[in-house]
Amino acid sequence: MPKSIAVFGAGPGLGQAVARHYAREGYAVTLVARRPEPLDRLAKDLTSAGATAHVIAADLSDTGAAPRLAERIRAEAGNLDAFYYAPTPNAGFVSAASLTPSHAQNFMPLIFYTMLALVQEFLPHMLEQRHGAILTAQGGSTVQGLPNMSGPSPAQAAQRNYLQALHAEVADKGVYVGMLYIGAAIKNSAFHAEMERAKAAGDPVWEMPTVDPEHLADLLWTMHDTKGPREVRYP
Ligand SMILES: NC(=O)c1ccc[n+]([C@@H]2O[C@H](COP(=O)([O-])OP(=O)(O)OC[C@H]3O[C@@H](n4cnc5c(N)ncnc54)[C@H](OP(=O)(O)O)[C@@H]3O)[C@@H](O)[C@H]2O)c1
Repeated sequence: MPKSIAVFGAGPGLGQAVARHYAREGYAVTLVARRPEPLDRLAKDLTSAGATAHVIAADLSDTGAAPRLAERIRAEAGNLDAFYYAPTPNAGFVSAASLTPSHAQNFMPLIFYTMLALVQEFLPHMLEQRHGAILTAQGGSTVQGLPNMSGPSPAQAAQRNYLQALHAEVADKGVYVGMLYIGAAIKNSAFHAEMERAKAAGDPVWEMPTVDPEHLADLLWTMHDTKGPREVRYP
């Protein structure tokens, strides 16, 4: 039976690159996002390269649906050896000065609560096997508050705090918790496409380097494979 990973947020940027990388490493891959068509296309690519891929369309901001989602994953792909959780809101950055409670709260289910629910679903088996990985990738504003980059960032910081604590509890029980923090625009992603559009239109854009998602997927894999540091920042 091949090892199994779920990619929660299997979008065109990093999610897809993580799926491809783990498929090459021999993992069966379960792809999760809201729109089934791009997931089906990616699954077709993966299976034509000899991998096993499952597609589950789901809205990860619906935390109450996480147990049913986990049941579906177990039914189709079995228990997970790893999961990557980074569904991207892709909109909603505002200044800290204008951030309202309801705007901040909007991001909590997708970024924090559903991840918690999925950890509750999949961690017990990982601990039983003394083997597994829980991986995330977030922006640099998770680690360091930045002007005009509030909105999702406080929810991402809550996720980070939780994962740091989880790492401290499970690292010596065979489960690796890995966090990658990215201060660059990821090629192929919706964010990068919007940045290119804004640049071409002469609109103001954040100054940041760009990075290939394959490079980041390779970094995440190395963190997991070597059980390296719990957190890595790029660049
Ligand atoms: N893109 C960048 O330049 C950049 C820079 C720094 C950090 N990051 C971080 O890196 C991580 C990966 O970013 P990425 O841009 O490369 O993302 P990605 O892997 O290209 O895509 C993530 C996918 O999440 C899915 N998603 C969004 N809301 C969802 C929901 N409610 N339920 C289920 N799925 C949902 C979207 O697909 P559907 O629309 O089909 O649901 C989207 O395609 C994210 O945590 C992001 O914050 C990104």
